[in-house]
Amino acid sequence: TSIFDCLSHPGDLQGSYLIFSFMFSLPFAERSKAFQDILSRLNLEKYRSRKIRLRDVLEICPEGIKNRIPEALRDLPWHFLRKVMAVNGTARNTSIWHKAPEEEMSGDDDKELHIDDNFCVSDAEIKVSLHPLDVLCAVLLCSDSFLQQEILSKMSMCQFALPLLLPALDIHKCTLLLWAMRDIVRKWRPHSLAESRGFREESLVLTSMLTISFVRLGSCSFSKSKLLNDVLSPSQQHHNFFIHRDTESGNVLRQIADGLVEISWYFPGGNENSDLFPEPVAVTNLRGDIETQWLQFSFLTEVSSAVFIVTESISEREYELLSSLKESTAKYYFILNYKNEKPMETLGFLNKLAPVLKLSKSQLLVKDSTTNNAGFVKKVQSTIGNIMNSSPKTVSLEAMAVMARDLGIQVDEDCQACQCARKCAEDIIAEIRDGAKYKREMLRLQGDPWKNLAKVEKELCRMKSQGDMATEDYKSELKQKWLEIRRQQNQCGLTNGLTKFINGIEHFSPSAACKPHPLWV
Ligand SMILES: *[C@@H]1O[C@H](CO)[C@@H](O)[C@H](O)[C@H]1NC(C)=O
Ligand SMILES: *[C@@H]1O[C@H](CO)[C@@H](O)[C@H](O)[C@H]1NC(C)=O
Repeated sequence: TSIFDCLSHPGDLQGSYLIFSFMFSLPFAERSKAFQDILSRLNLEKYRSRKIRLRDVLEICPEGIKNRIPEALRDLPWHFLRKVMAVNGTARNTSIWHKAPEEEMSGDDDKELHIDDNFCVSDAEIKVSLHPLDVLCAVLLCSDSFLQQEILSKMSMCQFALPLLLPALDIHKCTLLLWAMRDIVRKWRPHSLAESRGFREESLVLTSMLTISFVRLGSCSFSKSKLLNDVLSPSQQHHNFFIHRDTESGNVLRQIADGLVEISWYFPGGNENSDLFPEPVAVTNLRGDIETQWLQFSFLTEVSSAVFIVTESISEREYELLSSLKESTAKYYFILNYKNEKPMETLGFLNKLAPVLKLSKSQLLVKDSTTNNAGFVKKVQSTIGNIMNSSPKTVSLEAMAVMARDLGIQVDEDCQACQCARKCAEDIIAEIRDGAKYKREMLRLQGDPWKNLAKVEKELCRMKSQGDMATEDYKSELKQKWLEIRRQQNQCGLTNGLTKFINGIEHFSPSAACKPHPLWV
């Protein structure tokens, strides 16, 4: 009870975040050790400081072209990277192919659990793979920021949920991925533009929209992620935006991904009959229990208009915890999965919570053994629809980053390299008013000189306009022309725009570790 003593006067909300994240989170040393262990199993240790770069993944090598099935844990990061680069929907499959299961299991007899003669499960088999989200976290934390951007863009094309907050594994703070999502552009038709057949096309991180969060309190026997997939899937087109227990390796115990917040979006296509919602909505999904992930949970309560708390029971302890949210402006919904032995106790505490969190009856969604799944999904969808109709606040990812910083969450874009690179890019862009004119003036070797050069080179091969001239004479005339164009090009000095660009590239590439590409030498 000593933990709750400090909550008897919750005071300001900020104070209680700190207390909870301090009291309940696994100690950093333990998380860091688990991370180290995963890296060593995935053979990624060497990329902890010298990150994997985009060019490592784009490199064309025999290994990369082969459609290799992962045979060991160390194949998983590269399998994920190659598949996601190819926008292949199977990228998150972390199953490992067993060459000869009999061989592998021999010598492990005492660990085998015989169910019947044809079917046996061994410890080895269960342990052999990793949860896809563990692999994702490890790969992202071992990738440089350019590769992260590419991974997230490609994941978005695969319609995978994207990581929004990475858990604190290699540094003491968790990280919001903003820069990593900068490249993503989405196009949609809100119902307000359906008549005019207009559409909107915007950078994802700049688009303000309704945000709704789904979190879990305590343990729960039904899958929140599976429910979310159902809620976000258009009818007859089921899609696994979120990994859940029934997807490949989704049942493997997560070792480092608790505390990960994923985000997915619904964008309407402009069809009032088939669209689930008339406007875009962002949905976030916190992995792990809010009690141990209080900082991430606090962040979600600030950015979201509504927070759905999935739970099976609420006792004194959970009641105290939730009471600390009384100053929060988010609207809370409870998805109560009736399985516990003491529903009366849970309902009693929910009644006590009602005035604290300003709960009305519609904010309690009960799911029990008799609930029809399709019906329940409809209910959640219509609840989200109602929230949308109540003109809730909207936030963009950029705005979320501001709130994250206030809570002590690191934003990927704040690193010095990103800031300097951004400044450099802005310096260059600031001078571009008229694109065609800029190209003519700054890229003086391109444009007409380049076109003329190509024409001469082509003619040197084809010899189509030779006419009556002797072949050697004609060739030599063309070579003279070619040399003249080259001479003109050589006379152009480096323009201001190019100098800025080259300085920028030189400054930011990890030149020390940079080797020329094998195809260039
Ligand atoms: C995706 O990858 C799987 C597994 O390697 C392969 O069987 C499948 O053909 C790929 N799909 C596409 C569209 O390339
Ligand atoms: C996942 O990978 C395993 C092993 O490589 C393979 O047997 C299985 O068919 C894959 N599943 C899907 C859905 O692609």
